[in-house]
Amino acid sequence: MPKDWFEWHDLYKTDQRLQQRLEIVREYIAHSLNFSSPGVIRVVSVCAGDGRDLLGTLANHPRAQDVYARLVELNPQLVERGQATIESLGLTKQIEFINGDATIASNYLGAVPADIVIVCGVFGNLADENELNRLLRNLSFLSKPGAFVIWTRGHSHNIPHSETVRQSLQKAGFAEVNFQLTATGDMGVGIHRYLGESVAEPKEEQFFVFSGIANRAR
Ligand SMILES: C[S@@+](CC[C@H](N)C(=O)[O-])C[C@H]1O[C@@H](n2cnc3c(N)ncnc32)[C@H](O)[C@@H]1O
Repeated sequence: MPKDWFEWHDLYKTDQRLQQRLEIVREYIAHSLNFSSPGVIRVVSVCAGDGRDLLGTLANHPRAQDVYARLVELNPQLVERGQATIESLGLTKQIEFINGDATIASNYLGAVPADIVIVCGVFGNLADENELNRLLRNLSFLSKPGAFVIWTRGHSHNIPHSETVRQSLQKAGFAEVNFQLTATGDMGVGIHRYLGESVAEPKEEQFFVFSGIANRAR
């Protein structure tokens, strides 16, 4: 079991479910970039880890130079690793990696509303469905109308939690573009579009509480 979120990222080396999840997330990020209008593409990543989903996509994408992104992550070692990747890709002028609390609205000021919002590895770390609905409501501050929202949700004890997320997204005013389960069958990855308006002021200063613990996560 990983002792912290830095160690949790080592699971990407061996865990097929995480590897397959990453592949689908990158496919959805590439799709969002392909379908973005000409000009600047704004991206935010909530609880970004080391940013391997976005940065791994930008390494080979023709729209990389159009992307202006802010990634928000609490673990300083992950931010350091992400920052090194940004430097190696020559994207330091466009991609900010903030070592901060992704649950707080002010950490997104100047970077939102975004065209692409990445919330991967987050929904499974919320206390309950009310907290999920709260976060979905608060995405109106992060998202432009029509923004792509890319998310993941693992299943546990044979409970298909990703179905709950799909239903909640529909009720909250998001349209599904695509959804896939990993080949392992126990991880849902979705891409939705935000159909509402974006709001200039956050509804709440704290969007959600991240209550997950690395050594209990799979
Ligand atoms: C399950 S991991 C997912 C990381 C990444 N998004 C991915 O899919 O590979 C959850 C991440 O959330 C980060 N995290 C936890 N609480 C946070 C907070 N309040 N603000 C920012 N990041 C947080 C952890 O450090 C960890 O890197």
